[in-house]
Formats: sequence, structure tokens, C-alpha cells
Amino acid sequence: MAKLKLDFSQNKLFENQKTRKTSFLICFFLLLWYIISFFYYEQEELLPAKNEENNTESLIAIPITLPPANTTVNTINDTDNNKNPLQELNKKYCGRSICKFLFVYTHGEQETKANLHFRSFSQLAEKLNRIMILANVGLSRIGSCENFPFDFYYNTNLLQKEFPNIIFKSEEEFIFWLKERDQIKKIMNSKDNEVIPPLSILHSDIKRFGRTPLKTIYKDARPNFNKNRCLLKFEPLMKLTDSNNSQVRYTKMDIGRNDLNTVKSRTEFSKLLVNVLTTDEEILLVNSYIGRPLFPEIMPVIPYNDYILNEAQKIKDKLSSSYIGIHWRLERSEPKLLPKCVQGLIETLNIIMKKEGIKNIYLATDYPLLSSRSQSSTFRQITQYHHDAIRTLNETFKINTWVSLGGLEQIRKDGKHDKEFIGPGIQGILDKLVCMNSNYFISGPKGCSRFVSSFTKAIAEERSNMINLENNHDLLNIIDRWEL
Ligand SMILES: *[C@@H]1O[C@H](CO)[C@@H](O)[C@H](O)[C@H]1NC(C)=O
Ligand SMILES: *[C@@H]1O[C@H](CO)[C@@H](O)[C@H](O)[C@H]1NC(C)=O
Ligand SMILES: *[C@@H]1O[C@H](CO)[C@@H](O)[C@H](O)[C@H]1NC(C)=O
Ligand SMILES: *[C@@H]1O[C@H](CO)[C@@H](O)[C@H](O)[C@H]1NC(C)=O
Ligand SMILES: *[C@@H]1O[C@H](CO)[C@@H](O)[C@H](O)[C@H]1NC(C)=O
Repeated sequence: MAKLKLDFSQNKLFENQKTRKTSFLICFFLLLWYIISFFYYEQEELLPAKNEENNTESLIAIPITLPPANTTVNTINDTDNNKNPLQELNKKYCGRSICKFLFVYTHGEQETKANLHFRSFSQLAEKLNRIMILANVGLSRIGSCENFPFDFYYNTNLLQKEFPNIIFKSEEEFIFWLKERDQIKKIMNSKDNEVIPPLSILHSDIKRFGRTPLKTIYKDARPNFNKNRCLLKFEPLMKLTDSNNSQVRYTKMDIGRNDLNTVKSRTEFSKLLVNVLTTDEEILLVNSYIGRPLFPEIMPVIPYNDYILNEAQKIKDKLSSSYIGIHWRLERSEPKLLPKCVQGLIETLNIIMKKEGIKNIYLATDYPLLSSRSQSSTFRQITQYHHDAIRTLNETFKINTWVSLGGLEQIRKDGKHDKEFIGPGIQGILDKLVCMNSNYFISGPKGCSRFVSSFTKAIAEERSNMINLENNHDLLNIIDRWEL
């Protein structure tokens, strides 16, 4: 015993020396890091340093004089007084002699969040007086890498009502404009002089991700064509690497870590955003990953298309309009806790069923229902614990899911949407709608499921609106968490 104690204290002495040395080293590196990052950020905040006098987009403070958002510098003026065919095209297509687009070709994150980001950028399009491109959708994302037009998920008519001042165009319509412009250019420029210039493009990466700076930084950036793989499909009509086709300026914005947290900070930030992106370029391409709203006002969720709404209604009808909606996102659960979790769920369900007289349950989950792939792109490690938990639940109750109730059957079987159903996809929207309309809604507690989920939150918010604003008496609660 004594020996052990001695050894221990010797060890400790040794440890102490070692610790002191280590602490010194840590302190040294921290100081070094601090100095480096100080200069790094100081320097970046003053950017772009290269052509500072030239730059109207200085970022340090909110500028006092904003350039009017409307001034469209007309670069194409046919002095012959002949009608300029490009202007004619633009008038037909955009209602004015120069077309200006905002094309956010990646929105980051899955549908619930991407839906929010799309609304934020629509607000930006309005402020910039630009046409908003309806990027494609698929696999629970919004972006030009996806395979289906925007209205595969959303109701574009209702979106237009929500944003009456914006012209929206689909990717297909955008391609049409590119094609027409290209034709005109070929004809006009063949006469030896360059009447129609290349496309003018500003490509901007807008991120709030990883090690965010204290204050928002906006600066020129090097071209990075790897990132643009979702734009390859527009080639050769829009080819960023071909200077005869397009003149591209690259910039990036790293959003400050607290700049989107409050209404007040977003008020300031959004002024800055509008200011720096008020430019003459015809096409503003944005690659975004933001996670938060950009503007002080948060617009209502973009409505889903009628087909999905009808599928949700059909499911409700099949469940005799009376069911408990369960959202169980198994991702980030502790697998070893799952046997207890499922027991807790079963007990809670029994209590609610008895008390409220509800007989049916509907399970919305990221557990694979159709194939072995999970229904969330970030949930990959499915263990025996996961399988056992779902099996136990399935042996206790009749589990209804979008699969068992034949949801989305028409497109599931048409052979064109197979991939959409392998991982996360349109079925997530259906699940969300079915849970929003459930008589009782429960979700998992910490440890049993992903607790902080924008999906769950969106359901709870909508239910709260339905109860408070629409006075819907069929909804018996907003959200409960079952107990362990
Ligand atoms: C502004 O910068 C551009 C290149 O970025 C340069 O061609 C131009 O001459 C500059 N103009 C002035 C007024 O410095
Ligand atoms: C922008 O332009 C439209 C039409 O050209 C005009 O009606 C509107 O008043 C302008 N807005 C501003 C802020 O100048
Ligand atoms: C072209 O420029 C002239 C003067 O340079 C101007 O008077 C005319 O309105 C312009 N035309 C168009 C279509 O912008
Ligand atoms: C651009 O056009 C010019 C003149 O037509 C030609 O000489 C040049 O090779 C072209 N550049 C590219 C990258 O295609
Ligand atoms: C529940 O069990 C039935 C058969 O007993 C099976 O067809 C169904 O796929 C199971 N449900 C889930 C969610 O595993």
C-alpha cells in the first residue's frame, strides 16, 4: 500500500514537471496562434487590399451611401438606333432591357433548412432587384446538382404569392435565356465586331461554417472550379472557364459568428449583404452554406406541391383521421440506450392511446423502411440495437409508415424517381406533413434520438400555429417527448 502511494507521488512529481513543460508549450502556441490570427483577421477585414481605392465594397462599417439598387448600367447600347436584339430578348424575358439573375446553386443542408435558406435568398433577390432562379430539388436538397425541377417539391404559385415582387424562373427557363442570348451573340458578333459581350458573372461563396470570424469578411477570391461541379450542366452555354463565354469575378463571404443571431444583428448584416452584392454583373452565382436566416424577417415556409399534400391527406384518411404521430430520428441516439428508449415509447403510447382514445400510430423515422440505406444522409451506422428497437415496437403495435400506407406510390413506381427513395427525399416532406396533422405528436428524448432537429421543430411550430391561429381542435398537443 505504502509503496503504491510512494510510486504514485513520485509519478505525480514527474507528472507535475511534465505538465509544467506542456503548459508552457501550450501557452506558447496559444500566444502564437493568437498573434497569427490577429493579423490574419485584421488584414482580411481591410480587404480587398489589392485595389482598395477602386473598391466601393469596403466592409468595415455599414456604408452611409448605398448605391441605388435600381441602377442597371446598360452596357449594350446600340448606337445605330437599331433595335438591339439582346435588349429585345431581355425585355421579353425579364421585362427590362437587361436581365439580372440571382442563382443560388447550392443551399446547404436538408429540406427543412434549405427551405429557410431559399426564402432568405428570395428576400435578397427582391432587394437586389434580380430574377430568382428556382434551383432544382431532390434527395431532400435544393440545388442545381439535383435532378428534379423546383415544383417537384414546392408550389410555385403560392411561392409567387408570398413574393409578389420577384420574378422566378426555373433552371430550364434560365437555360432557355442562355441559349437565346448565345444565338444572338453568334449572329451579331460574326460581323467582325464584338457587339454582344461575354456573360458577366459574379461568383460568390457565402458561408457561415467551421471557424467563423468575429466579424463578417467579404473579399475577392481565387477561382475554384472544383466547387462549381453543379454548374457543369450549363456548359457550353455558360462556361465559367471560357473567357470568351463569360467574364467571372470571384468573391467570398465568411459570415461573422454572431451576425445572424438576432433580429438586430440580421438587420445590420442584411444591409451589408445587399450593399456588397449590388453589382452590375448579369448573373450572380452563389454557393451557400449558412444555417440561419439572413434577414430580420423570416418568411413563412415555402408551401409544398399539391401532390404531396394530397398524399398526406390520403394517409390521414387511411388512419381514420385519428393517429399519434411519432418522429423518431435514430441518428445520434445512443445505441445502448435504445432498449430502454423503446420501452419508454411503448409505455407513453399506451398512456396516450388510453387517455385520448386514439388507436393508430404513424412512425416518421430515418430508420430504413424501403432499403438498407437510412433515410438521412448523415445517419450511416445502423446497429443491431437500432434493428431490435424497431422490431420491438413493431411487435407491440401496428406501425404505420409512409411505405406501409402506400404513400407516393405513383412516383415511387414510375421508374424515374428510384434514387429519390433510397436515401432521404420527398418522403421526408410527406412524413413532416403527416406528423403536423396528427392528433397527438411525440418525439424522442435526449439520448434516444436526435434532440435538436429542425425537422421536429418545424412540425411543432406548424402545430402551434394550427392550434393558436386556426383554432384546430383536432390537435391535442403541440409536441411531447416520451420518457425514458
Ligand atoms: C480598378 O481595378 C481594375 C482591375 O481590378 C483596373 O482595371 C482599373 O483600372 C481600376 N480603376 C481605377 C480607377 O483604379
Ligand atoms: C426601381 O425601378 C422601378 C421601375 O424601373 C421604379 O418604379 C422604382 O421606383 C425604382 N425604385 C427605386 C428605389 O428607385
Ligand atoms: C443609348 O445611349 C444614348 C446616349 O449615349 C441614349 O440617349 C439612349 O437612350 C441609349 N439607348 C438605350 C436603349 O439605352
Ligand atoms: C476567344 O476568342 C478568340 C477570338 O475569336 C480566340 O482567338 C481565342 O482562342 C478564344 N479563347 C478561348 C479560350 O476559346
Ligand atoms: C413490421 O412487421 C411487418 C411484418 O410483421 C413488416 O412487414 C414491416 O415491414 C415491419 N415494419 C417495420 C417498420 O419494420
